[in-house]
Amino acid sequence: IKKSITEEQETNGKMHNDDNLSITEHLEKVFTSAIANAYPCFCNVRAIIAAVNVSSPFGDYQCNNAMGLSKKMKIEGIIKAARDIAVDIQKCIPESPIIEKLEVSSAGFINIFLSKKFAVRSLTNMLRDGVRPPRVLKQRVLVDFSSPNIAKQMHVGHLRSTIIGESICRLLEFLQHDVIRINHLGDWGTQFGMLIAHLEDCFPNFINESPPIGDLQEFYKESKKRFDSDDNFKKRAYNRVVTLQKGKTESIKAWQHICDVSRKEFQQIYDRLDVTIHERGESFYQSRMLKVVEFLRVKGLLEFDDGREIMWPDDSKSGIPLTIIKSDGGFTYDTSDMAAIRHRVEEDLATWIIYVVDSGQSTHFNAIFKAAKRCGILNSNVHRVDHVQFGLVLGEDGKKFKTRSGDTVKLADLLDEGMKYSLKQLQERGRDQILTPEELVEAQEAVAYGCIKYTDLSHNRISDYIFSFDKMLDDRGNTAVYLLYTYTRICSIARNSGDDFSNLGAILDTYNIKLDHKKEWKLAKTLLKLHDVLIQCARGLFLHYLCEFCYEVCVVFTEFYDDCYCIEKNKSGQIISVNHSRILLCEATAVVLRKCFHILGLKPVSKM
Ligand code: ARG
Repeated sequence: IKKSITEEQETNGKMHNDDNLSITEHLEKVFTSAIANAYPCFCNVRAIIAAVNVSSPFGDYQCNNAMGLSKKMKIEGIIKAARDIAVDIQKCIPESPIIEKLEVSSAGFINIFLSKKFAVRSLTNMLRDGVRPPRVLKQRVLVDFSSPNIAKQMHVGHLRSTIIGESICRLLEFLQHDVIRINHLGDWGTQFGMLIAHLEDCFPNFINESPPIGDLQEFYKESKKRFDSDDNFKKRAYNRVVTLQKGKTESIKAWQHICDVSRKEFQQIYDRLDVTIHERGESFYQSRMLKVVEFLRVKGLLEFDDGREIMWPDDSKSGIPLTIIKSDGGFTYDTSDMAAIRHRVEEDLATWIIYVVDSGQSTHFNAIFKAAKRCGILNSNVHRVDHVQFGLVLGEDGKKFKTRSGDTVKLADLLDEGMKYSLKQLQERGRDQILTPEELVEAQEAVAYGCIKYTDLSHNRISDYIFSFDKMLDDRGNTAVYLLYTYTRICSIARNSGDDFSNLGAILDTYNIKLDHKKEWKLAKTLLKLHDVLIQCARGLFLHYLCEFCYEVCVVFTEFYDDCYCIEKNKSGQIISVNHSRILLCEATAVVLRKCFHILGLKPVSKM
């Protein structure tokens, strides 16, 4: 082992530890093999590696296995101090390009100090080639997110799903997974009966001419009113559900018109938030619902219950059963999700399916996942399924987010309001005087949409959060505004140096990154945590870790910049010396932040 790692490093001459593993993963590998070599009886023990605070004098990472192993030995009747075990492990560590030195503490921790040479190589490669993804096992992942309902308002819950879902896709795409982005639009169901019947009455010419429905919500309310009060209308509405499901041209046409109105509104939101998603609504599964019902019936998993047909999620028949067929013969949300999961596994060949839907639906998804395992659609050894749940958005009064008049907030209005707030802030800072009109709009959008997304992503998604533009636009603390300003400040350093930093490769041919100052070293070590953070985010599908990391990078950068001159000027403001090495470190910081911003959906602006 000793040879192979060093040889690989030496022969390809490039930095990177073997195979582009993250630092923690690399250390896990190295220490796991050291434990096995030191104690062959513990060849199945996995190394426990923890990152240490970047300011700690006791190393950068720690291996914490010795204490546990000492206890294990004691049970076997062998008395050996943790410290001595740590020393044994240390002796078996293969030479690693990323380790500078190791120290064993009296308690038995092995303190790991990172190699500066390795850090310089990593950062240099990053400046030449951009951030390369850490290596992970590639999968086909299907992400079901956003998924609003036709003719109903897209509400803040859908906004959360849209923001979180988009970032999860970007993260997994960067990790080189094959990602399918699906909008499971609520575009099917009995409500379309009344909408079609109402459309026929209001716009009899809808076949030839696209009906001018301005406000679909209003249209929905009107049809619902008639449905509840007029028996004839109700009968026709039911009949339209049947003709729609049978695929009758006229009903399909009417249904398409109605969907188009919603679709356009949704698309505007996606465009503004820079979200890419492919529509595959519930209607897509109509024929597949028939098939999945047959599939379940043949397996003997459907049971009659009070006129409906149900399926228990597991053999114990406890909890709440899925309703597969209603007493009127119709299908339900459960039926379409069973058809969808089957399609995703058997036709899309996804091995990982992610549903980004509010916590209120966790019972539903639990039941779907269990049922899909019970009937053999999902195989626990092959498939991973996650319900990525999230909490509520609250108003500043701590209650459910509503407009002053008590209505649900229209997302378009919310985005407009964000734009107003951000313009006001930029004007207060006099940016409208400095920036060109185009730059100002760019900054305004970056701040407005950035702060809405970032606020959502920076909280642990499970918890509720309070929506407040004032808090979002604070330029101190862990906010998008603070990050964006820090980023523009970093970009301005190279720009103001008087030298051309646009070709970093050329600069790197002449200058090296140096990490002699303790703040330079601290910044470098912080930047190198990126891969570990990305892996941690992907593991539990939590993006707030990445937000915390961005904030840490900005804070540590500011410390560095306060202590380390990048450009020195004389009293009359003339540049007398440029520290290229440090400006390269600034550029590396910008590269790392840009990568994170992309995943978080923040648009970096170089001037703001
Ligand atoms: N349309 C649903 C809603 O607004 C969300 C759909 C989520 N995806 C799914 N496969 N059930 O609540």
